[in-house]
Amino acid sequence: MERAISNRGNSLAAQIPSFLTVLNDPWCPTTNPDGIVNLGLAENLRINAHALTYGDGFSGSHKLKASFCRFINGRFSPQTALRPSHLAITSGVSNALECCAWALADPGDYFMVGRPYFNAFRTIFGSRPGVRLLEVEFGGVDPFSMVAVQRYERAFTEAKSRGLRIKALVLCSPDNPLGRCYSENVLKEYMKFCSRNGLHIISDEIYALSVWNNPRLPNAQVFVSILSIDLEGIINPSFVHTVWGLSKDFGATGLRIGCLVSQSNKLVLEATEGISLHNIPSSLADQITTSLLANDSFTTNYIEVNRYRLAESYKFATCQLQSHGIPFLECNAAFFIWVNLGAVVKNATAEEISARLRAEGVYIAAGEHYGAEQTGWFRLVFSHPLTVLEEGLKRLTRAIQ
Ligand SMILES: Cc1ncc(COP(=O)(O)O)c(C=O)c1O
Repeated sequence: MERAISNRGNSLAAQIPSFLTVLNDPWCPTTNPDGIVNLGLAENLRINAHALTYGDGFSGSHKLKASFCRFINGRFSPQTALRPSHLAITSGVSNALECCAWALADPGDYFMVGRPYFNAFRTIFGSRPGVRLLEVEFGGVDPFSMVAVQRYERAFTEAKSRGLRIKALVLCSPDNPLGRCYSENVLKEYMKFCSRNGLHIISDEIYALSVWNNPRLPNAQVFVSILSIDLEGIINPSFVHTVWGLSKDFGATGLRIGCLVSQSNKLVLEATEGISLHNIPSSLADQITTSLLANDSFTTNYIEVNRYRLAESYKFATCQLQSHGIPFLECNAAFFIWVNLGAVVKNATAEEISARLRAEGVYIAAGEHYGAEQTGWFRLVFSHPLTVLEEGLKRLTRAIQ
């Protein structure tokens, strides 16, 4: 039997606070007369002010979990319909990712990521759980192609021979910073690679609904959730974990609501529950999100308008880039464009280009922060109002001329 959890994850699962069963079953004379009367927690509110208490526990209210399930079942087409017992709500997606590190790895273990990658993975996995990143180089191979998986295989074999303990592969799907989606076949290939090597796969789907139309890429791959794939014969489902939240698709980074979905690995969710005091979402954010996700006409309209506006901003930004001869990689998802300023400012280091940008009063992050394989690349965020974008691009083009 493969072990589907680390030693640390196992011991965290054993630490679930016993009073969570109390919070899970609160007494109410009319709706739950057999529930538990909670005289044990220092809360100074009337019982109907549920939203300002510790609620139903530390991993999201029952109502929010139900709202998430309904929403994800409607939008991500999961093979197995999501139930509240399949997920934990956390204070943002960073927290959900960190819970994966706590539960699946021990300090000094490694998670694999393809270059370039979302820079905060280093902090999220590294700073508290002590999990390191094993960066995979593609050497010009398209990271969204089947062949890319061979690069992971090579990096895995080489790292294994150096005695590194590798526990998981982290996919950002759609990708940050490249703004592209993985096809079902490529996702399956990644999962087969994980299965062959006893690795978990963590799919960060935070940009799932921010996929838009790029007329210059008419056949662009659209988003496919890992939840929608039939895992039979591909990977043990207890090795598959997904995170999503409201920070990006609903433009609400300050709301701090995310979730970790692990449909077949109860222990991962128990380990997460074990440290849920550190990840408890605000009950007010919990309430707001519950009603937001339950409002179908609002969410449908919001997602549609968001996609339209992202496409418009992308069109505007890329027209500006083209007219100034700045090369970039086309994409159709998320909020950024991978631009090659090094191709325009010849023989300059990333620091020198960054300094020129700052001198003109504009900031964009250098590819080096994202583990880019080549220097000169920058990640330009285009999801701004047109006035901001226009001013920023004006400054950018001045800086590199
Ligand atoms: C790929 C990815 N995952 C996770 C996060 C963090 O999300 P949150 O603000 O919900 O913690 C971000 C934020 O930029 C992101 O780009």
